[in-house]
Amino acid sequence: MTLRVAILISGGGSNMVKLVESMSGDHPARPCLVLSNIAGAGGLDKADALGVETATVAHKNFATREAFEEALHARLEQSRPDIICLAGFMRILTAGFVSKWEGRMLNIHPSLLPKYQGLNTHQRAIDAGDSLHGCSIHEVTALLDDGPIWGQATVRVQKEDTAEVLANRVLVQEHKLYPEVLRKFAAAQQG
Ligand code: GAR
Repeated sequence: MTLRVAILISGGGSNMVKLVESMSGDHPARPCLVLSNIAGAGGLDKADALGVETATVAHKNFATREAFEEALHARLEQSRPDIICLAGFMRILTAGFVSKWEGRMLNIHPSLLPKYQGLNTHQRAIDAGDSLHGCSIHEVTALLDDGPIWGQATVRVQKEDTAEVLANRVLVQEHKLYPEVLRKFAAAQQG
């Protein structure tokens, strides 16, 4: 059975594009939805151009996090995903939402977890004087940027790096790592 993948974004969606492009041929999954919590996020047009259904559930239209997540869950269910990939999705999800998708949801985080959960990961790696930095793909659990790690990729931090330069170097690795991990994760789900 071919698995269905929903990808959640908040911005430009460069990881989403790599995931969508990877799901062809003998890949065990296909994209079924790209959903943004921000109206007009750049990634929505890219998904559209790739022929993937898109949706927006704008968190700012909801009074509470729970109300937003209820609408998010309802929209996701319409597309019947087997797997959800968070790809630059910048909303914290509550335990209630996560429990509905636990074991079926991946996230990409721009640090070598467990280091630097949360935001500003690149600057924090520079400030700490780290020589290695990178990205992680993990299963999403109720704790922020936690959960079983499915893959990591490293880059060297250079003396003259700014956060932006370092972020771009990490992003190159993200684009390779996420499709590799999704393929493994989907194959494991297929059993
Ligand atoms: C990526 O670097 C991703 O790792 C990061 O946001 C960026 C999204 O870029 N995610 C997080 O910081 C999650 N806490 P993209 O929209 O071009 O894929």
